[in-house]
Amino acid sequence: MKKNLGNKTVVAPLPVFIIATYDENDVPNAMNAAWGTQCGYHEVTFLLGPHKTTDNLMLKRAFTLSFATPETMLVADYFGVESGNNVNKIEKAGVHVTKSEFVDAPVIEEFPLTLECEVIEMEEEDGDYRVVGRVVNMAADESVLDEKGNVDLGKLRPISYDGAAHVYRVLGDKVGRAFHDGLALKK
Ligand SMILES: Cc1cc2nc3c(=O)[nH]c(=O)nc-3n(C[C@H](O)[C@H](O)[C@H](O)COP(=O)(O)O)c2cc1C
Repeated sequence: MKKNLGNKTVVAPLPVFIIATYDENDVPNAMNAAWGTQCGYHEVTFLLGPHKTTDNLMLKRAFTLSFATPETMLVADYFGVESGNNVNKIEKAGVHVTKSEFVDAPVIEEFPLTLECEVIEMEEEDGDYRVVGRVVNMAADESVLDEKGNVDLGKLRPISYDGAAHVYRVLGDKVGRAFHDGLALKK
């Protein structure tokens, strides 16, 4: 028997997106966002409150999106508990950025996988903004690629935000083959 818990929402896995942007003076900034996902072949979406990042996105219409890992967890959490309106978080965290070759946004070297994106939609909804970005390039460290040159999530080990316990968990084990294992029940 299931227990009804009301409309308290737990969705899993939520990502730990690191959204990096430049401000009007080309100062880099980064924030942590869990309410996001892929929403098309080359599109990603997330919901933002009123943040420095939100202002930067409206101004530059560009961002990079990286995935936090166990190694980058502490910095990723810091990016979610401090605002670029108060301090230069990139300097304080001690990470290094270079300008994307494809969009007007910073790439954070320490994060092994980065999507470089342009904003294609940014809609206000009760003070929050639904953002949709188009991916124009994906840049990956060799360390997270397999022998064929594809991203290997087993090597990347992205972390997920657990909104029930407010902790980060790591994604990893392969438990089945997609578009394949279910075929057994079609027979
Ligand atoms: C685990 C985690 C998830 C978060 N997810 C979101 C989110 O999805 N949307 C949002 O607007 N803020 C989210 N935040 C809060 C922002 O990251 C935070 O307000 C940050 O300070 C904004 O930075 P900025 O002002 O430099 O842009 C999250 C924070 C944490 C720690």
